[in-house]
Amino acid sequence: MAKKSNWSCVRLTVILYVYAATVAVTARVLPSADIYDTSKYGILELENGLAQTPQMGWNSWNFFRCKTDEKVIRETADALVTTGLAKLGYVYVTIDDCWSGLERNSEGDMVPDSKAFPSGIKALADYVHSKGLKIGIYSDAGLYTCQLRPGSLKHENDDASLFASWGIDYLKYDNCFNLGIDPKERFSLMRDALNATGRTIFYSLCEWGLDDPALWAGKIGNSWRTTDDIKDTWESMTGIADINDKWAAYAGPGGWNDPDMLEVGNGGMTYQEYRSHFSIWALMKAPLIIGCDVRNMTAETYEILANEEVISVNQDPLGVQGTKVHAYGPDGCYQIWAGPLSRKRTVTVLWNRCSKAATITAEWDTMGLESSTNASVRDLWKHEYVSLSSTKSFSAKVEAHASEMYVLAPAASEAA
Ligand SMILES: *[C@@H]1O[C@H](CO)[C@@H](O)[C@H](O)[C@H]1NC(C)=O
Ligand SMILES: *[C@@H]1O[C@H](CO)[C@@H](O)[C@H](O)[C@H]1NC(C)=O
Ligand SMILES: *[C@@H]1O[C@H](CO)[C@@H](O)[C@H](O)[C@H]1NC(C)=O
Repeated sequence: MAKKSNWSCVRLTVILYVYAATVAVTARVLPSADIYDTSKYGILELENGLAQTPQMGWNSWNFFRCKTDEKVIRETADALVTTGLAKLGYVYVTIDDCWSGLERNSEGDMVPDSKAFPSGIKALADYVHSKGLKIGIYSDAGLYTCQLRPGSLKHENDDASLFASWGIDYLKYDNCFNLGIDPKERFSLMRDALNATGRTIFYSLCEWGLDDPALWAGKIGNSWRTTDDIKDTWESMTGIADINDKWAAYAGPGGWNDPDMLEVGNGGMTYQEYRSHFSIWALMKAPLIIGCDVRNMTAETYEILANEEVISVNQDPLGVQGTKVHAYGPDGCYQIWAGPLSRKRTVTVLWNRCSKAATITAEWDTMGLESSTNASVRDLWKHEYVSLSSTKSFSAKVEAHASEMYVLAPAASEAA
């Protein structure tokens, strides 16, 4: 008897759990097209109220590496405002590794490197806040950071309190020297420490995708790296896009897959390659974290980073990560990436990963649309409608390594 009632209790619990999960998922307005797997959408989200759309900002690492200092951070904050990038949403200014001195002080606190940050982080945070921006900092879920500064493992509460007392808004938390301790454990300790400060702090996990964080990190952080560090090359960028694509079903408001920061403007790729990088990152609902020297951008770099129409795809309130829906041609290098947007619209990127120009065709049904759907097609790089009435498919000539990006809006919904 006892055994039997135990089992029914387990069964009831399972049924209730499944029911609750189903209600949680269907409560969001999701696209009906079944080519996009949104079954895991938003169900794991960390409840700190942040990351309703992917985070946007700037980080010191990709361009400055360890050669960062308070002057660079101040001038970057100034430049984000004067260029207008801040107004477009790039608000988090994050100091990556090397802000800290090599040792903790006698009280066991981290101390800013006295040469690079002589005024301290609190003063810098005040400056960044005075510009209407937010400030991010970096630490590590291990004994040391990757550049051998003190890590936060076993110091989570002290370090989180210190960050909160400085007015920090964002923590990037790395994975070096981790003693082989389970990342779920290490990254959860800092989540709880941040929460206990009472200050709302964006929590960006940098676990390099080693233990498939998309499967567990949604309850721990607001974003989680799905891959190793990006390099400023075409091979690295395309490879990372493909890896990040596999985890699309797990992204949603509250928690995003992070294929690493942008290399746009750092010189290792062509204009067309950087445009592809930015288009695909936006479509994948990746965090848009600029990694170049914004004090000294070329007009081309600025044109890419400041494309409002592409940014609004990234920040669309539906928050569904677009995916690679079709690849054909030599080695599958003619690619169609697409995803649903709010108001029944669809974003599509025609990405030519071949080394020669080609005409790429996107069929409506590969993007989850009825082939009879009559849609307008807006080119997000030319900033114009290329068609007000298209059905079945759409083609465009795409240069080698380039991308063309469009929003398809069904005739009826555009007016709505
Ligand atoms: C701490 O966590 C609780 C429960 O998840 C949440 O409701 C609260 O908003 C969090 N507080 C902060 C400051 O993140
Ligand atoms: C600005 O960028 C250009 C390359 O685009 C570089 O040659 C130049 O040295 C940079 N200037 C400064 C002050 O960093
Ligand atoms: C598609 O919609 C446009 C705009 O509403 C309309 O002008 C056009 O006639 C429609 N085309 C078809 C084939 O229904």
